[in-house]
Amino acid sequence: MKVLVVGSGAREHALVRSLSTDPAVTELVCAPGNAGTAELAETRPLDVSDPQAVASLATAEQADLVVIGPEVPLVRGAADAVRAAGIACFGPGADAARIEGSKAFAKRVMAAAQVPTAMAHVCSTEDEVAAALDAFGAPYVVKDDGLAAGKGVIVTSDREAALEHARQCDGDVVIEEYLDGPEVSLFALTDGTTVAPLVPAQDFKRVRDGDAGPNTGGMGAYSPLPWAPAGLVDEIVERVVQPTVDELRRQGTPFVGVLYAGLALTSRGLRVIEFNARFGDPETQVVLARLRTPLAGLLQAAATGRLAEAEPLAWDAGAAVTVVVAAEGYPGKVTTGDPIEGIGDVIAPAYVLHAGTETGPDGAVVSSGGRVLSVTATGADLAAARAAAYEGVLAIRLRGSHYRTDIALAAERGEVRVPSTGD
Ligand code: AMP
Ligand code: GLY
Repeated sequence: MKVLVVGSGAREHALVRSLSTDPAVTELVCAPGNAGTAELAETRPLDVSDPQAVASLATAEQADLVVIGPEVPLVRGAADAVRAAGIACFGPGADAARIEGSKAFAKRVMAAAQVPTAMAHVCSTEDEVAAALDAFGAPYVVKDDGLAAGKGVIVTSDREAALEHARQCDGDVVIEEYLDGPEVSLFALTDGTTVAPLVPAQDFKRVRDGDAGPNTGGMGAYSPLPWAPAGLVDEIVERVVQPTVDELRRQGTPFVGVLYAGLALTSRGLRVIEFNARFGDPETQVVLARLRTPLAGLLQAAATGRLAEAEPLAWDAGAAVTVVVAAEGYPGKVTTGDPIEGIGDVIAPAYVLHAGTETGPDGAVVSSGGRVLSVTATGADLAAARAAAYEGVLAIRLRGSHYRTDIALAAERGEVRVPSTGD
């Protein structure tokens, strides 16, 4: 099978890496890719935001399966365009991708499917925003309704900062109740009917240690979650994923691809923070590091309505940790074009997944984005995986770069607490 992976982040490098070890994959193309994917797949230029360009490339390459990584092409209809060209596509159409593209749409689906989520007000004027902030009280949660690459949300106890963030938002503003408790990311593959959950992971959204600083796309992740209550995945599938997939199908917009549920385990039980219509980055790096089942067959089964026939998934019993190395300035304006040294010094069980990298004219790898590398490692347990990942990070030299030093630390120490729900 010939597979085309669309995207250029560490998530796509992780997908390409897994697909490249699947014997069913005979040819692999990544577009536009990065310096890391180029070592495992053919690279093609591509404007991922242009659905027709994605479909044309898939046709020209005679791909058997297209796997779309990022949200922008999905929300714009790239999966629809690929399917219209008669090619199997792993990724939802534009209608179903609204579950990520519009927080207001996601709230309506959840209400219809009785999925537990934070109470929210969708506001279109400053007076409505102020009233909603006062109704919920601090800490305030203010979200841009549309896509914002993980950076459209502010959680603050400063009412003026909350109002200011709302003023910066493009269209409608969503004000939410604050959810306490640890966060979980659960990805579920689906063909629109059948659901196959992957192992849960935890992401670190804030830029600095101790969850300080602004939100980012994600600074690191780990899996498994030793602190997770027994039966968590079953509960998420039963109360969140299956009802949402069923509701989208009922509305005539079946969701094909991976539904990413971002959840909080709160003192009032499980709550959805957000849905994404794609694999999470950096969680994919650790989830795929533990997947033993060949990936291409699974994604193809989801893309072609045959997930019910797939074998149960097999997982590595050990742990995986990934640490994002970000460019100077991230998540604000970043510097690019800096040489990255030491990638070759990262040794197993650690390995480097590229994100914002490109190959310069002299063949050297240079930075080209905010999140530059995702240094990933596996180990018998979190402590071993964590130690190996940070040893890998220390080998990397990139001027002005920064990373969090506390990825998976609280979990390794047994310090993550799920609030008691009293039942
Ligand atoms: P989102 O873009 O909706 O995933 O939000 C990004 C991050 O903001 C989440 O991963 C949480 O860390 C935080 N966040 C979002 N909504 C809430 C909420 N209602 N309560 C507490 N934290 C939240
Ligand atoms: N890790 C957060 C995201 O992919 O949206």
